[in-house]
Amino acid sequence: MVFRLLTIALFLAVAPAWGGQPRQLCLSCHPGHYAERGGCTLCHRGNPASERKNIAHAGLRAGKYARFTLGDGAQIREGERLMDRLACRRCHVSGGRGNRLAASLDSAAVRKTAGELVLSIRHPVANMPDFGLDEEQITILVNVIFAGSQGRQTDEAAPVRVHFNTSGKKSADIFSTKCGSCHRILSERLGAVGTGETAPNLSGLFSDFYPKTFRNGEVWSARNLKDWLKNPREIRPLARMLPVMLTGAETKELESIILVSPESNK
Ligand code: HEC
Ligand code: HEC
Ligand code: HEC
Ligand code: HEC
Repeated sequence: MVFRLLTIALFLAVAPAWGGQPRQLCLSCHPGHYAERGGCTLCHRGNPASERKNIAHAGLRAGKYARFTLGDGAQIREGERLMDRLACRRCHVSGGRGNRLAASLDSAAVRKTAGELVLSIRHPVANMPDFGLDEEQITILVNVIFAGSQGRQTDEAAPVRVHFNTSGKKSADIFSTKCGSCHRILSERLGAVGTGETAPNLSGLFSDFYPKTFRNGEVWSARNLKDWLKNPREIRPLARMLPVMLTGAETKELESIILVSPESNK
């Protein structure tokens, strides 16, 4: 009885924050918490208007994917560091920053459930690297994706690249012939190129969002790439990659495939 009264009192106290929504029927099965921050669905989604669990739980976000709502700065920063280290933004926009070589994670956060985001990271499509992450790392990333999308306009109108070579022909571009047996890249100009699994995915190599792994934390400029291709071991003594000789015209073509237009990462 005391609990019931408390629940009702709590409901009355926070009702205005729910923007005049109907009563949160979640409370008919669950005790409330964090009521001072808003209604259940603000953090957990779901449908507060039903007393039937399967309807109430439609699109539900479990507590561990709602951690970001608690505004713990240290936790969000840890997540951001992980996202930077794995360089998700070399392909995706998240938190309004990144290349648009693949779907915007800000839009995905709105359209998809936490479960769907988890699956996309755990079992990535062919053109996304398999990072082999554990459950906790995936949970952290999903929280960062949700946090980054908060309060943003989703930009469905923005171009999302088409990744598939449906021509059935063997690609004859310079990346496919000289790099593609070991590397892959999402190219603005050509879509998904290369089939290699053994070397880093070079998507967005010339952008701010690719890890600065050239010498001494330098970015991969066109110039630095030329030096690398001439002799990787001069840059990194233990490099496994062998030198690749390219003509001037081939270098130009390669650069045009790697290039990401600046307006794609605003
Ligand atoms: C009819 C009762 C009922 C209603 C209504 C209901 N739930 Fe639940 N909920 C449960 C039960 C039972 C579980 C235990 C796990 C399960 O059976 O799915 C649960 C589990 C959960 C979990 C944990 C899920 C997980 O995967 O760990 C969350 C979060 C949750 N509910 C939130 C909500 C929210 C938010 C609402 C309202 C939008 C709501 N529930 C409405 C009965 C209900
Ligand atoms: C401010 C965000 C926020 C609000 C509002 C909120 N929750 Fe939660 N909830 C969380 C977080 C975060 C967790 C994970 C555990 C924790 O850190 O407290 C969680 C955990 C839970 C759990 C335990 C199962 C699980 O998934 O971990 C249930 C059940 C639950 N919430 C139900 C509710 C219901 C019902 C309401 C509305 C009365 C509600 N929550 C309101 C953020 C919120
Ligand atoms: C080399 C490019 C690339 C990188 C790097 C990359 N992804 Fe992806 N990702 C993709 C592609 C391609 C898809 C499929 C959707 C599409 O075609 O745009 C995808 C899909 C997703 C989806 C599902 C999106 C949706 O709309 O359903 C999520 C979530 C996701 N990636 C998260 C991540 C995270 C987190 C990282 C970093 C750990 C990451 N990705 C790194 C290329 C990439
Ligand atoms: C036979 C396999 C192979 C081919 C072909 C190849 N690479 Fe590599 N590349 C690698 C490997 C393996 C690495 C990982 C670093 C190392 O150990 O050398 C690498 C690393 C790189 C890196 C550094 C990436 C980073 O984040 O550290 C760049 C840039 C690069 N390659 C560009 C190219 C380009 C451009 C081509 C084509 C002109 C190419 N590679 C052809 C195997 C290859």
